[in-house]
Amino acid sequence: MSRLFSLSLCAIVVFSLASTNAIAAKTTYDANAGKTIYDTGCSTCHKTGLMGAPKSGNKADWVPRIAQGMDLLVSRSIKGYQGKKGMMPAKGGNAKLTDTQVGNSVAYMVEQSK
Ligand code: HEC
Repeated sequence: MSRLFSLSLCAIVVFSLASTNAIAAKTTYDANAGKTIYDTGCSTCHKTGLMGAPKSGNKADWVPRIAQGMDLLVSRSIKGYQGKKGMMPAKGGNAKLTDTQVGNSVAYMVEQSK
């Protein structure tokens, strides 16, 4: 009985890992939902260009970054990254944000800057 239980538990774990991967592969971000997060966090640096942050709406700053692709932009925003201009803190310094929330706010900035 307990063997059957652990087998089915194992199947559930494998299945849920597989399905989260499937979701992650085709994530689309919601720029509208990202606006609030941008306004309450990211804008501190990204509105004014504080600490070397690329200003939202500044195409010269953003076009080459956008060309790197959303996946890289989002993963750098989640993990943080040291670039040539400055240091982007992980999740903009707000560890409470989910990865999706960070992705949404990246989408919002990208929308402003295309
Ligand atoms: C404390 C200031 C600060 C805050 C707050 C901040 N950033 Fe940044 N961010 C930076 C700096 C500085 C860079 C530029 C690093 C470089 O390219 O040298 C940057 C770069 C980026 C980039 C471009 C990465 C690339 O590959 O070119 C993205 C996307 C980004 N930030 C998203 C966000 C998001 C989303 C938030 C809010 C959740 C946020 N940032 C909050 C300072 C900040």
